[in-house]
Amino acid sequence: MQEITLRAPSATANIFVGDDALDKRLPILTATQKNFVLTDSNVYKLYPNFFKKYFDGAEIFVLPAGEENKNFQSLQAILERMSTSGLLRTSRLFAVGGGVIGDIGGLASALYMRGISCVQIPTTLLAQVDSSVGGKTAVDLGEVKNIVGAFYQPQEVLVAPTFLNTLPKREIKCGLGEMIKYGALSGDIFELLQKNTDKWTDLAFLTELICDCITHKARVVERDEKETGERKSLNVGHTTGHAIELAYGFSHGEGVLYGMLFETQIAIEQGVCEKEYGEQLVALIQKALALAPLSTPDFSKVGECAKLAKSDKKNKDAKTVAMAVAKCKNEWTMLYLPFDEYQNSLTKWANRA
Ligand SMILES: NC(=O)c1ccc[n+]([C@@H]2O[C@H](COP(=O)([O-])OP(=O)(O)OC[C@H]3O[C@@H](n4cnc5c(N)ncnc54)[C@H](O)[C@@H]3O)[C@@H](O)[C@H]2O)c1
Repeated sequence: MQEITLRAPSATANIFVGDDALDKRLPILTATQKNFVLTDSNVYKLYPNFFKKYFDGAEIFVLPAGEENKNFQSLQAILERMSTSGLLRTSRLFAVGGGVIGDIGGLASALYMRGISCVQIPTTLLAQVDSSVGGKTAVDLGEVKNIVGAFYQPQEVLVAPTFLNTLPKREIKCGLGEMIKYGALSGDIFELLQKNTDKWTDLAFLTELICDCITHKARVVERDEKETGERKSLNVGHTTGHAIELAYGFSHGEGVLYGMLFETQIAIEQGVCEKEYGEQLVALIQKALALAPLSTPDFSKVGECAKLAKSDKKNKDAKTVAMAVAKCKNEWTMLYLPFDEYQNSLTKWANRA
């Protein structure tokens, strides 16, 4: 097991990577206080022995799987169950699942009695390399993603790659989307991805990269926990990605892949992203998008979906769209475009995809 410590200004989070992390940490973490487990219906069905082995006797809340359940109603139901099951301030919440469970579970633990201990046990590739680390918690509100939330560091994150064995191919592709995002920010990860394109669906290769991605994120979060500056870099491709995710019903990682594709092309066109490097990044993204299962969205009305980018949290005013884009190897920048220009550029690149 490898250990990565994230020393954020608000709290320290210990991240353990390796299948043995479960056996080494869970008996210690579950002893002596009342425990609450949040998971989703798919994970609960797939891993009965896991829940029996580590959480026998704990209160287990099973949320129906899916982003559509990352909302206020679910949050309220979770908080009510936490209260009726007699959780105390000394209790601990374990969020076992993908990014949906991590985000809503993190928020429930931040809110309950003004904050109880939270342990993240991410079970998707996307959650292992990204969402379980850094303390961003949230629910969606209507059409706006992650608009209600809190920065709240988990006490520990236990990353066990064994969970990836049951992940559908589509979810592996989504996790790869976030890994390519790290590639856009870190030359080392970029090179590893570029040199090993034939291994992108090979779990052993992806597992090797998990620590690199987490370490990159941990160092950024230590320097800018509340996303006033550098942490915005972790949103490369996300302004357009979130808009596409909502408009086309894509999952987060797929939306991010398309978002990075279009935003990188827009950044090259604007002279913000170095052409040669940007084209290599575009090629990587296109390779990931070409992995099975293919999605073949009809982007003819993408101009409409551009409006969803107006509610992005990075925007400074209602008329400008803000995007975090790669600039060259190891560098990124914010690109601000007037809405009409953004809409036209997005339409152009999306129709060529
Ligand atoms: N907090 C952050 O910093 C951050 C960062 C990135 C994304 N996110 C959020 O994360 C969410 C996306 O996360 P996700 O892609 O993990 O989605 P998800 O939680 O919906 O999981 C995807 C699917 O995989 C299933 N699943 C989970 N683990 C499995 C396993 N081991 N085997 C088989 N199936 C499994 C789930 O039931 C679900 O159907 C979005 O809501 C996004 O906004 C948050």
